[in-house]
Amino acid sequence: MYNQPMLKENSLQGKTLIVTGGGTGLGYSMSKYFLELGANVVIMSRKLDVLEESAQILSKETGNTNVLPLACDVRKYEDIEAVLKTSVDKFGKVNGLVNNAAGNFISPTERLSNRAFDTVVDIVLKGTYNCTLALGKYWIENQIPASVLSIVTTYAWTGSGYVVPSACAKAGVLALTRSLAVEWAKYKIRFNAIAPGPFPTPGAWERLFPPALAETDLGKKLSPEHRVPLGRVGEHQELANLAAYLVSDFSSYVNGEVITIDGGEWIKGAGEFNDLNEMPNQMWDFLEQMRKK
Ligand code: HXC
Ligand code: NAP
Repeated sequence: MYNQPMLKENSLQGKTLIVTGGGTGLGYSMSKYFLELGANVVIMSRKLDVLEESAQILSKETGNTNVLPLACDVRKYEDIEAVLKTSVDKFGKVNGLVNNAAGNFISPTERLSNRAFDTVVDIVLKGTYNCTLALGKYWIENQIPASVLSIVTTYAWTGSGYVVPSACAKAGVLALTRSLAVEWAKYKIRFNAIAPGPFPTPGAWERLFPPALAETDLGKKLSPEHRVPLGRVGEHQELANLAAYLVSDFSSYVNGEVITIDGGEWIKGAGEFNDLNEMPNQMWDFLEQMRKK
């Protein structure tokens, strides 16, 4: 079963975690599981109405009412300081941060305005270092051990055309993760990242796999079923399990790591002969006969 919760009950009891972009998509699914495991969770993003509705559903579904929805634009440092203050006032302290908020769309790079480029880089990279810096200063000053988890992508290290602002920004987030994993280890602050492959969410799908494209031959070639060796997309619980492990004390010796959860997608693109997957058995039979001759 790949849609079952993994950690034992109350694994996150006593922890307060801030999840950026926690009201939708993967942020919502991670927040839900954190709440199920007993954490206090602060979900924050720009749209307070979305967050408030999500918070209500999360409380109802998990039976844990310790979910706090707060409006915040991660591009604004003062917004994050305000979120931190309200969270500490409500829950006493904060022990973890999930940098999950993102902006992205597909476009040929030469068609982008400089503002479009800024928009994605500011949400993803500036948003991540703003949150990390604000929380980091607080943890260091108050001597609180903490865990930071950032959601990147596999093109953070391969790069990818047509999502270039996102690729640049995610690469920066990965560099931040690996750099501070070393620099702030002395303060007992751990840094890790998850690089997901395709996990369907409305936010990602409407921007990256629009229906008009999905119905074309190219769309079929781009579909996760075609691209992912395991032949399927990810289940949100699979990602939530990994995220919960990385913010929990079970992973207390894991630091500076990026864990890929993509069904083998990126490595398939990297291996020179992997497309031989598509060669029919008759052709292998034929080649074998030729060799034996
Ligand atoms: C080209 C675009 C564009 C597009 C916006 N812009 N969308 N350019 N193609 N599709 C340009 C605008 O014209 C404008 O430039 C500038 O970007 C800012 O646009 P706004 O709409 O004013 O920005 P804003 O309201 O801040 O919205 C940010 C956003 C939006 C990123 C554009 O899509 C958003 O809110 N996204 C949040 C959620 C999201 O993106 N989720 C997907 C994450 S998925 P000008 O010059 O005209 O002023 C993900 C998965 C990765 O990361 C891997 C998957 C396998
Ligand atoms: P999503 O639902 O669109 O999530 C993006 C979230 O970011 C939204 O909740 C959005 O909320 C928030 N956000 C955007 N701009 C913000 C800002 N300026 N300040 C604060 N919050 C902001 O998409 P998703 O698929 O769940 O993506 C979640 C994460 O997973 C992202 O980091 C993405 O890059 C990564 N990822 C996803 C996939 C996938 O297949 N889904 C694959 C690889 C990586 P508001 O609009 O309310 O601000």
